[in-house]
Amino acid sequence: MTELTIKQPSDFHVHLRQGDELEAYTVQTAKHFENILVMPNTKPPITTAERLTAYHNAIQAILVKHAIDCRIFMAFKLVPGMGERAVLDCIRAGALIGKYYPSGSTTNAEDGPTHPSDIKEELRTLEQAQGILSIHAESPTSPEFLKERDFLSTIEYILERYPKLRIVIEHLSTAGTVDAVLGWPDRVAGTITAHHLRYTVDDLLTDGIDSSLYCKPILKTEHDRKALISAAISGNPKFFFGSDSAPHPFEKKHIFPVPAGAYTAPVRLSLLAEVFEENDALHMLEYFTSTAGTAWYGISSSNSYITLIKKPWKVPDCIDGAFPVAHGRTLQWQIV
Ligand code: NCD
Ligand code: ZN
Repeated sequence: MTELTIKQPSDFHVHLRQGDELEAYTVQTAKHFENILVMPNTKPPITTAERLTAYHNAIQAILVKHAIDCRIFMAFKLVPGMGERAVLDCIRAGALIGKYYPSGSTTNAEDGPTHPSDIKEELRTLEQAQGILSIHAESPTSPEFLKERDFLSTIEYILERYPKLRIVIEHLSTAGTVDAVLGWPDRVAGTITAHHLRYTVDDLLTDGIDSSLYCKPILKTEHDRKALISAAISGNPKFFFGSDSAPHPFEKKHIFPVPAGAYTAPVRLSLLAEVFEENDALHMLEYFTSTAGTAWYGISSSNSYITLIKKPWKVPDCIDGAFPVAHGRTLQWQIV
């Protein structure tokens, strides 16, 4: 196959940042997509309806300016001491999810809970308001490779105490978490990124460290990658696309301490097409990128399409002032 037309995709996990960087990242991330879900780990974080609305409006203004027809969905951060009122206000302001970042787990997560009981009132409110909980599922105190595994018991704690809460486990990175999601009730789903489907820890560390691939959760083994691929191509409604595209300035990705975050917005569909093609599953790409996520979130979906063609292109070293994943590599697929 050299050409593939699919319904316009959705990306249910993106970072757009703020200030001078917001415009370029927003354009790159929203173009060609029908829906994007914007993460709240800005500084200050999105923890109030006012901030959520202001951030939404700033992004929307950029989309209007560039005539990009993409729906944006917002998230707010669940932090200790936030209170019931702020949670309800964020939901009323249109937030699609409340995001749980364990304290210290990733970029700008110092203010998160150390245990779900730190935000029990907020979780209860979210559950009662039929909101959706999104989780960065890593235990910050565990060794890097075991952080995700060691957080599974915390998810079970949440599942038990909040029996009606719908939950998305973000950026699955291990075979064990894929199995756990499969075993949990239907109210639990998981997003999978393009970089965890394409790369392993060896791409990050062997033959010279590639800091563009340094992200949380850290890339794992080929065994884990295979399990993620099986989930993504399976057509199971619990698994859908969230890129976790997380740009950091080019210079910051080249000097200690390198921040965690993989900028994949410019390459995410090319990477996905390559992986799906390699696994004889190009026919499942549309379900993973364009159908499963909107169905899980209950979002209507339009009848717009995009076309990918097989035409090699070389990824530049710097895009939008950031250090993109696959820099310097030749990818096979591109969007017409
Ligand atoms: C993200 C970022 O840079 O904001 N970093 C990352 O490594 N994925 C935060 C996150 O989603 O963990
Ligand atoms: Zn993220």
